[in-house]
Order: sequence, then C-alpha cells, then structure tokens
Amino acid sequence: MISPHGSDKLNPLFVRDDAQRAQLIKEAEGLHSVVVCSAAAANAVMLGSGYFNPLTGFMNKADALSVSQNMKTADGLFWPVPVLNILENAEGIQPGAKIALCDPNVDGNPVLAIQTVAAVESFSDAEMTGMTQSIFATTDPAHPGVAAFNSVGKIAVSGPIQVLNFSYFESEFPDTFRTAYQIREEMAGLGWEKVVAFQTRNPMHRAHEELCRMAYRDVEADGILIHMLLGKLKKGDIPADVRDNAIRKMVEVYFEPNTVLVTGYGFDMLYAGPREAVLHAVFRQNAGCTHLIVGRDHAGVGSYYGPFDAQTIFHDQVPEGALKIKIYEADHTAWSKKLGKVVMMRDVPDHGKEDFVLLSGTAVREMLGRGEAPPPEFSRPEVAEILIQHYQTEDA
Ligand code: ADX
Repeated sequence: MISPHGSDKLNPLFVRDDAQRAQLIKEAEGLHSVVVCSAAAANAVMLGSGYFNPLTGFMNKADALSVSQNMKTADGLFWPVPVLNILENAEGIQPGAKIALCDPNVDGNPVLAIQTVAAVESFSDAEMTGMTQSIFATTDPAHPGVAAFNSVGKIAVSGPIQVLNFSYFESEFPDTFRTAYQIREEMAGLGWEKVVAFQTRNPMHRAHEELCRMAYRDVEADGILIHMLLGKLKKGDIPADVRDNAIRKMVEVYFEPNTVLVTGYGFDMLYAGPREAVLHAVFRQNAGCTHLIVGRDHAGVGSYYGPFDAQTIFHDQVPEGALKIKIYEADHTAWSKKLGKVVMMRDVPDHGKEDFVLLSGTAVREMLGRGEAPPPEFSRPEVAEILIQHYQTEDA
C-alpha cells in the first residue's frame, strides 16, 4: 500500500490503548481546560485519525507562517495549510504545561484531547492578513473560510496532542466516519492497492458518479473511496446526513458491488480552493489512496478561484516528489445530448454549450425546493427524491 505522507508508518494521535486512554481522561479532569474553536477541534480529529500524519500536534507560529507562505514547515516538511489551535484568550496557559482541549461541538464540552503546550504566540494583524491571503488567495471577509479563520483569535497554542475521542463524528455518523487507519485496514482486507479517492461536500449527481467511474477505469483501480466531509459547512450546503443517504443510495443502485467504499472524515470545510485541494491530496495519501480526483472548482466557493486552479497548483507549486498520491485531473463533466451519456468536455471538441445538460447549483436548489426532480440526465431519480424530501424540511 502507498506509504503515508512524511513517514513510513502512519502515526495517528488517537490513544488506541483503552487503559491508557481511560487514565488520560481521568488526568484531564485535573488540568487547566479550554474550549477550543471548531476548526481546532476538527484539526484534533484529523490528527487523531492519522489524516494529518506525520504532524504530532498543533503548529507554532514559525511553522504556520512558513506553511502559509511556502507550503512547508520550518523543518522543510511539505504541508499546504497551517494546523493551528488558535485562541482569543490564552490566560493561564503556560509553555510546558498540559492542558485539556474541550469540544465546542458536543453538549457539555467534553475533553477531546490533551495538549502539552510548547509555546503561546500571538500573530500580528499583518501576519493574520498575510496568512489569510496565502491560504485563501483573498482577504475578503465575505469568503466563508476567510470569515471563519479571522473570527477565532490570534493566539497560537502549539505543541503535541493526545486525542481521546472523535467528537460528534463517531456518534452521528457511525456507518460513515472512518479514520485513516481504519480505511487503510479495510482496503488492505479487500486487497485494494490502487484506489481512487473522490472528495465531496455535495450530494453526487450524474456528473460526479460518472467522474468516479471514468477515473476508476482510466487508472485501472481496484476500488473507489468516496470520502465525504462530515464537518461544518456554509449556510445553504446540503447537511452531511442527507448527502450521506443520497450517496449511499446512488452507490447501492448504480455501482458494481464491492467497488466503492462510502466513508467520511471529520473536518470543517475551508473553501480554500487550490490549497485545500493539496491538503485533500495529503490526507487521502495518508488514508492509503493512490489517486485523488480533482475536477472543476474543487473546494471552491463563489468566483474566488479559477475553475481549474485546484489542478494547476499541483503543477506550479507542489515540488516534484513532495507527494506520492497522483491527481486525476477531470475536465468539466456533463451529459451530452448528442451522445446520450455523461462526458468530459475535453473529449468532445465538436460540442457547443447547447449540446450539454447544464444546470446551475441555484437552479437545481430551486427545482428541488419546488418538489421537482431535476432531469434524469442530471440527477438519478433516487437521489432527487432524497434531496426533495430534505428541501421540504425547515432547516433547508
Ligand atoms: S468540493 O468542494 O468537495 O470539491 P463538490 O462536492 O461539488 O465540491 O465536488 C467534488 C469533486 O467533483 C471535486 O473534485 C470537483 O472538482 C468535482 N466536480 C464537481 N462537479 C463537477 C463537474 N461538473 N465537472 C467536473 N468536476 C466536477
């Protein structure tokens, strides 16, 4: 199986030994505790899961600045996005001490991890702006990722962590949440060596379904890992439970048995386009995948990124050999009325715009909101039905 990023063996930070974990949970009761922000909690879940191998905890200021500017830590490890425990107020937190990191997303704020504090350092306003620009390619506060990054404070508490649970992800998504080491074990059991990962935060329509099939066929893979984001999203995105049901239905009806694993990971969406695509590649390699599909406007939002910026970054900014995982670059994919099937636009140069079934996200949402299924060339009817039901609920 493909080796993890930056080490030969995966080193997840979840304490897997039950007795040791129970002892740490007890120890945490006596520690100074702090309720962390959702992004830091998600970082802890990713570190615990092994997805952020080989990091051993939260980055310090030098690493965060270096990663945002140059995509490498001060020691030279390739890494695309700072992994921070950032706070507004670090009163009572001393270097050298152990602190309990409490979960902002679970009732009662239980302890999620124990951190051994290496340093407590503040970012200046100029440093926050510089990092924001490097990570998101904009500082516009209307960008949802920028807004989240700039709303949680400026004090970085760095140092190694021991993770004690996986927040709400295990209890809310027991069939779907998986750690990187669980995915590796499952794929090893299936005998899968060559695996294509599909990142998603949306329900899968026919273009997505076919994209997976094309990549699977083109790279002659043993299997497809559908790997969905289960954390926080911006308003208007489809919640993870609805998306999970729709994707499972699609896989059950339309894919060959034993070719797809439907799984998810516990992280909040950054909407950082190209930089997030690179992070996606790092953690799919850690989960044992050999290929990641990157298509149109991967991890994008609004019009902050060019439609294929998340592909060009791998050519322009990721040094040769920095990652072992390969990118399966997909062109805009849609149903061809001429050919009666889903195609990639680059494969049909004779087509004009009018030869495709193209619907904007807004148009699809409006249709579903009216209880109308999009055309079957766009959405599988079983998927449309689940989404229509969601749009009848109050929180849609
Ligand atoms: S993402 O934010 O998780 O990237 P989404 O779930 O919409 O968003 O996309 C999942 C993957 O499918 C991404 O790699 C994206 O680029 C790709 N994708 C989505 N729609 C299309 C399309 N019509 N053509 C090509 N690629 C697409």
